[in-house]
Amino acid sequence: MSIKVPQIIGHRGAKGYAPENTIESVQTAADMGVEWVEIDVKLTKDLVPIIFHDETLERTTNGSGKVAETLYEDIRQLEAGSWFADSFAGIKIPTLEEMCEVLIDLNLGLNLEIKPCPGREKETAEVALDVLSRIWDDHDRLLISSFQHVSLETAMDIAGDWHRGLLVDEWQENWKDLADYLDVSTVNINGNECLREQVEEIIDMDYPILAYTINDPIRGRELQSWGVDGFFTDVPDVLQESLLTVH
Ligand code: G3P
Ligand code: MG
Repeated sequence: MSIKVPQIIGHRGAKGYAPENTIESVQTAADMGVEWVEIDVKLTKDLVPIIFHDETLERTTNGSGKVAETLYEDIRQLEAGSWFADSFAGIKIPTLEEMCEVLIDLNLGLNLEIKPCPGREKETAEVALDVLSRIWDDHDRLLISSFQHVSLETAMDIAGDWHRGLLVDEWQENWKDLADYLDVSTVNINGNECLREQVEEIIDMDYPILAYTINDPIRGRELQSWGVDGFFTDVPDVLQESLLTVH
């Protein structure tokens, strides 16, 4: 299945300019003219899907401990902005549902990365897709991705006709078997580690390539010259200025 993804995707919103994976971060991305954002979803102890990257709370909130062991009623009390800057003090961790409502209002496309805590690969996809099935209508502007093949397989079983993206970190020789089996629309690679021949191998197999996380405009241009289609970036304005516009 083919999907049209813009050249620039705001990573965790606009992670360089606002606390990642928050409403403020996607608002910042939209203000910069970004058309799509990537955000991460995982489950609280009581299976509430929240927008959050790490397995633990310390780095980006005033809480501590594992997300998978914390109830939503405790997660919602946490403060998720002042670690980034005082001006963001008081902001909260959004639920997937709250985030989707904002994205729809802002007319942003969504790459939802299923980022399960260990052992929750299947249920995280199930719960996230259940929310999306109720809220998200425009499936040309929705890409479900994951490093976890079980999560993608679950997404395929539940909603085979939604677009999926295979996330690849270290190069995997069997990437094409996985991509074919999981029937993905994009292959999303680590753009700072990948080699030209790997990019070319994916292009030869006709898969669109998205590269994460590209903040260096010189690397962005290089990857673009190799044929990479889209870029996850913390600094959308920087990449916007440096990439050649391709329609
Ligand atoms: O989906 C691209 C990128 O977000 C994957 O890595 O760790 O930033 O979620 P990470
Ligand atoms: Mg991510």
